[in-house]
Amino acid sequence: MKMSIAIDGPAGAGKSTIAKIVGEKYNLMYINTGAMYRAVTLCAMNEGINPDQVKELCELVDSLEMHFEKENLIVNGVDVTSEITMPLISNNVSKYAAIPEIRAKLVELQRSISKKYSVIMDGRDIGTVVLINADLKFFLTASAEERARRRYEELRTREIEVDYETILNDIIKRDYMDTHREADPLTKAADAIEINSSNVDINGVVDIISTYIDGILN
Ligand code: DC
Repeated sequence: MKMSIAIDGPAGAGKSTIAKIVGEKYNLMYINTGAMYRAVTLCAMNEGINPDQVKELCELVDSLEMHFEKENLIVNGVDVTSEITMPLISNNVSKYAAIPEIRAKLVELQRSISKKYSVIMDGRDIGTVVLINADLKFFLTASAEERARRRYEELRTREIEVDYETILNDIIKRDYMDTHREADPLTKAADAIEINSSNVDINGVVDIISTYIDGILN
């Protein structure tokens, strides 16, 4: 059976960690749409293209061949997975992700992948725009403090110098931009199942999601 699962929620709620595990468990292709917006941001910044240069940005996106190999994002043959999570990209991505023309191009690409494969896709607008007919939609949340703590631990593990307060402020700023932008703002789809992971560990969330998937498989 071909299946599509949408996971939306704010930055740092654990979407990608959980989507990866669930994807492996049920043999679904994991599509990290945030990574795609980050890759556009990385390439645009490398080329010195600002968010207001929409025509140049569209040409840039058209010149990018993006695909996933497991959870790694390959852009024009280069694995950008690690580079796109650097704080410089995190702090600039919202500006590029707010551009309707860029969103339209990435949404088209995301939909075309979902037509070919069973997918678990995470992002901000998956349940509301990209996969409106997804078999299951989840909206994953956690408090800003808990999300900042997780991001802090993750960056520290990778030996990237950061301080907690800065990360918390960045998360609050990004939440604001993601929920207040005009084009496809972050919002819970009416038919999405909300899971607050502040006090539930990764396995707990995977179990909750698995129960729903098993429900449609049986
Ligand atoms: O999930 P993430 O933090 O890697 O996402 C990076 C940025 O991209 C985030 O600021 C919101 C944006 N984004 C989006 O607008 N739509 C998506 N489907 C996924 C991410």
